Amino acid sequence: MNRRELLEWVSRGLAAGVAALVGLPGISFFLGGTQQQSSAESQFSRLVKVKDLIPGRPTMVPVMGQKLDAWILSDRQAIGRVWLVREADGSLETGPAKQTVRALSSICPHMGCQVQLQSGGKNFVCPCHRASFGVGGQQLPDPKNGDRNIAPRDLDELECRLVCDDETGDNWVEIKYEKFRTGLDHRVAGV
Ligand code: FES
Repeated sequence: MNRRELLEWVSRGLAAGVAALVGLPGISFFLGGTQQQSSAESQFSRLVKVKDLIPGRPTMVPVMGQKLDAWILSDRQAIGRVWLVREADGSLETGPAKQTVRALSSICPHMGCQVQLQSGGKNFVCPCHRASFGVGGQQLPDPKNGDRNIAPRDLDELECRLVCDDETGDNWVEIKYEKFRTGLDHRVAGV
């Protein structure tokens, strides 16, 4: 191969490389669209069977998912916690369509501490600055603060659905886990 042929090969190789780089965004656009569609479904996390929730009593459940720690991506890590509240009159015999389960974020919308169930299970209270919420997540008045709740909004309700497993017939609770910014009187996704 003489010098001229060598230069031709090099310039062809460079042209092919540039073409591939230019084409990549287009390819990833189509691939990205597909991945997004499938991940929209996978955003739902299956948590517990409905029958394992005691009607009327909130139950805290960890949410597992992928977690990025520095450079390491790990599966099945605890990424958050939710309070599941099954309606007191939800009967197991009526099927998923008639049962109601609500999912509330355990993150206090004031400054992000974890709200706890008060003894007796009648409402939630935040251990940091004592904001309290009903089991439906609504802010409760604070008599020590002129009836003003220090939290700027109700507990954040998360998208929740009940799904029947075809093989076992069990009804499962699935939620779409999200975090919202604290300190605001309205919901904004993010931390
Ligand atoms: S962080 Fe919950 S009341 Fe302040």
